[in-house]
Amino acid sequence: MAPKPPVRRFHQARWDEPIIFELSQPGRRGVAVPEPGAPAVELPESVRRERAPKLPEMSQPHVLRHYLRLSQENLGFDLNIDVGQGTCTMKYSPKVNDGFAKAIADLHPRQPEDSVQGVLEIYARMESMLAEISGMSRVSLQPGSGSAAIYANIAMIRAYHAANGEGHRDQVITTIFSHPSNAACAKTAGYEVITLMPNADGQPDIEALRAAVGPRTAALMITNPEDTGIFNPRIKEFVDLVHSVGGLACYDQANANGILGITRARDAGFDLCHFNLHKTFSTPHMCGGPAAGASGVSEALAPFLPGPVVEAHDGRFILKYPEKSVGKIRPFLGVTQNIVRAYAWIMALGGDGLRTVAETAALNNNYLMHKILQIPGASAPWGRRRIEQARYSWQQLSEETGVHSEEIGVRAADFGVHYWTSHHPYLVPEPFTLEPTESYSKEDLDEYAAILAHVAEEARRDPEFVKGAPYNQTVHKIDMTSLDDPDQWAPTWRAYVRKHLSGKG
Ligand SMILES: Cc1ncc(COP(=O)(O)O)c(C=O)c1O
Repeated sequence: MAPKPPVRRFHQARWDEPIIFELSQPGRRGVAVPEPGAPAVELPESVRRERAPKLPEMSQPHVLRHYLRLSQENLGFDLNIDVGQGTCTMKYSPKVNDGFAKAIADLHPRQPEDSVQGVLEIYARMESMLAEISGMSRVSLQPGSGSAAIYANIAMIRAYHAANGEGHRDQVITTIFSHPSNAACAKTAGYEVITLMPNADGQPDIEALRAAVGPRTAALMITNPEDTGIFNPRIKEFVDLVHSVGGLACYDQANANGILGITRARDAGFDLCHFNLHKTFSTPHMCGGPAAGASGVSEALAPFLPGPVVEAHDGRFILKYPEKSVGKIRPFLGVTQNIVRAYAWIMALGGDGLRTVAETAALNNNYLMHKILQIPGASAPWGRRRIEQARYSWQQLSEETGVHSEEIGVRAADFGVHYWTSHHPYLVPEPFTLEPTESYSKEDLDEYAAILAHVAEEARRDPEFVKGAPYNQTVHKIDMTSLDDPDQWAPTWRAYVRKHLSGKG
């Protein structure tokens, strides 16, 4: 048998597939099979629609074909080696857990508590597992994403200071390599944001923090390891410094994949933290929502948690608003199906398994880093000490060839993989951020590194060819200008018809 080539051939499917609403034909139907024995539900007059919703009318095969075609025009875990979504922690989401999620798909969020005791028990157990993993006292599973959990945390920080007569605290401190949703949420909540730059080692600078803290400090909101993959070993000193001026410390633990079972937010003194269940705990991302976030807090902040929370009471589980709750962050209880998936994932692994996940993720990252740094023109600013991800730079390659990092990422997609560069501001020149997680094998990592080495080689040989990529993709370069123009955004079919079909439809 011929050995597998280091770089495999790939060609994405191309379908001229319309939007599903454009495929609708009056009278077409799929098959709806009611559950055997399911009681007929008579809806009260007050909740009945006056007109049927304008859903697309489709037969089942047409629906299947439509979505399968769209999925073929995509890259994703089932098709490609997704290590190029650094800081998004794209790990394997076990199919068996989808089965558990499906099992509760027919529940309605307005069902009476007594009819969903099993789900509420999963919430209660999940809360206590995340409390143990983070060291926090209570956890809310309501947020629908990491940013929603960060917003819940800043809302609790504001409410806590106001309740203690400290409402004048109007500054939040963060670091440039903490995820930008920390700064964005603090700003949205009305705070002035102070951003610390790294020191010469790429670490958040404690002297800069010392200069920034004071009576106006409401909180420190920090990611660790940061989005560079660098862990701040002096994190407890940061927390102590903020506490010494009466501020709170809030830990963005969305990058927890390399530290599970090794360090805990509360042990470093943090008052609040959050996890992205759709990253660390394997559930699907789903475009920032419905994903699933979890906010954890110390005893002192527990009365401010978003509500309702699940509590055990007289042998049953009930929903309750904490005494000084900041209210709702998301409708109902959160993204229950993802919470069930994450619960199943943690239960399958157990405590030791979680630690193995972290160790494997760090090992994979360091192995991949070793391979990437052998490619001429690639570097990792601030050295090799990384946990579960790394932000690299093509600065040298770019200076020598004129090819930019984004162009290399697009050309890599011609081989069935891709990468994300970095958040603005591009502090690392010509950046690219890789996070292999525990899900990928050595062969996967070798293949990924071989693709980047191949593209870097192409850039030296024929820069214009790389700049002209992609060649094997469904779409050529995506025009990003519409992303900055609210007049072009079409989050719904109705908006699409209004804005792009000139009122037709
Ligand atoms: C460290 C960190 N914090 C927060 C977030 C925001 O999470 P979300 O995209 O679910 O809003 C992310 C996103 O991946 C992240 O990497």
